[in-house]
Amino acid sequence: MTVKNFRGIMGNFIAGVTVVTLPGDPPHGITVNSFTSVSLEPTLVSICLDHGSEAHRRLNEGMNDSYCINILAEDQRWVGEYFANMGEMEQDPFESKNIETLSTGSLHFSSSIAYLDCSLYDVVKEGDHTIYIGEVNGGEVLRPEAEVLTYFRGKWGKA
Ligand SMILES: Cc1cc2nc3c(=O)[nH]c(=O)nc-3n(C[C@H](O)[C@H](O)[C@H](O)COP(=O)(O)O)c2cc1C
Repeated sequence: MTVKNFRGIMGNFIAGVTVVTLPGDPPHGITVNSFTSVSLEPTLVSICLDHGSEAHRRLNEGMNDSYCINILAEDQRWVGEYFANMGEMEQDPFESKNIETLSTGSLHFSSSIAYLDCSLYDVVKEGDHTIYIGEVNGGEVLRPEAEVLTYFRGKWGKA
């Protein structure tokens, strides 16, 4: 299996899009669609991060032990593009009005469909990625009626 083939096949699996925020000075964000639910008791979720990413570096070096997973709405496509480093953008989402800081220090966007406030629970290194398992300490559905942002066959969409 080549990487090209693998990407081509996996791109057919429709996924929602999240932005994972890491508090700090400056804070950091990464666009992630490897997000999945893992366990109900305890409440665990996972994300899978490329070893080349700044987000992985921060978590791996212990700079962060908590993070927030924002499930993006269709009208937040620019936020997804911004944190996937898809080119120059005028506005930094961290400087927008709708960024909120939770008591745990986690950052979330009030325009997201929902968010999960997580603390690092376990780490599994596999190949060129690491699976970060987070325990969910809080969260909220903010926009139950909004359409969600999707990524399918290399294109943004909505559902
Ligand atoms: C829709 C979409 C989903 C992505 N999902 C992931 C993911 O699950 N894990 C990952 O490591 N990178 C993922 N990426 C790529 C990162 O967002 C991208 O490499 C980013 O620039 C890394 O940011 P950083 O190095 O500043 O942390 C995704 C990109 C897009 C557009």
